Order: sequence, then structure tokens, then C-alpha cells
Amino acid sequence: KYEKVWLVFGLGSLALFLIIIGFAAFWKGTHPQSHIETIDPQNVEANEAFQPENLGLTEVAEGKYVVNMVASAFNYDFGKEEDGSATKTIRVPKGSTVLFQITSKDVVHGFQVAGTNVNMMVEPGHISRFEAVMKNNGEFTVVCNEYCGIGHHLMFGTVEVY
Ligand code: CUA
Repeated sequence: KYEKVWLVFGLGSLALFLIIIGFAAFWKGTHPQSHIETIDPQNVEANEAFQPENLGLTEVAEGKYVVNMVASAFNYDFGKEEDGSATKTIRVPKGSTVLFQITSKDVVHGFQVAGTNVNMMVEPGHISRFEAVMKNNGEFTVVCNEYCGIGHHLMFGTVEVY
């Protein structure tokens, strides 16, 4: 008799979980935010945000920044320093709001700013977006957290909050 009770309980919980997942997926359209806009990975420059001169950090308003970045095996293209050399560091003042817009030219990469809540997948064909408020001072290491090939460990950078 008890088995029957547990069976009903088990099936009931399963049904409940499925209903909750179903609601979460369809009712409010809960999708990963990053999957809204598509892009041609062979031609990321067709999107204004990913033209070479628009890569890297841009201040769009007081305390508001946008970071456009192209990930590829095995590099994050953060744009150029003023002297034309490739940069691996982004510097923003404490308290700023930073919108990261990242796409991949080849395979799935990750983009995590260790020590902050910035953590997303970067997929070819999609633009991943994440907006974060940089609350703490420090140097935060950017890492690729999706295994993308032999040079996976070479994908890193720094976000400096001053
Ligand atoms: Cu890119 Cu791992």
C-alpha cells in the first residue's frame, strides 16, 4: 500500500516539475537573453557593433559603457589601444554599467569575468549580451569557460575597475 503512495507522490512531483518548466519556457518566454539577435559568423563586420573600429570599450553616456568584442580561437578581440596595439584590458570606473556584446567567429566560447556576475556563452551566429554593474574595485580576469580547443587556456583578458 505504501508503495502506491510513493508512486503517486513521485509521479505527482514529476508532473509538477514538468508544469513548472513548461511555464518557465513558454509562458513568459524565458530564453537565454543572448539568443535574440543572429549574426553571420563568417562576416561579423556586417554588424556595425563588430566593425574593427567599434570593438572594445565605448562610453555611451555618463557611467554607461558598451564593450563590443569578437571571440575566436583563441583570442578575444577587445579592439586596439590608442597606439594601435591589440588590447587585453578594459578599464571602467567603479559603479559603471557595462553592456557586453560578444559574438564568435568560429566555435562556442565562454566569457566570464571572474569575481563578477558576468558569465555567458558566446556562440557563433548569435550575439551574446549581458549588462552588469561594476560594483567593486579591482582587476578581474576574463576567461573562456567553454572548452574550445588547444588554445582554450590562451583566451583571457582583464577588466579593471578603478
Ligand atoms: Cu575559447 Cu575556450
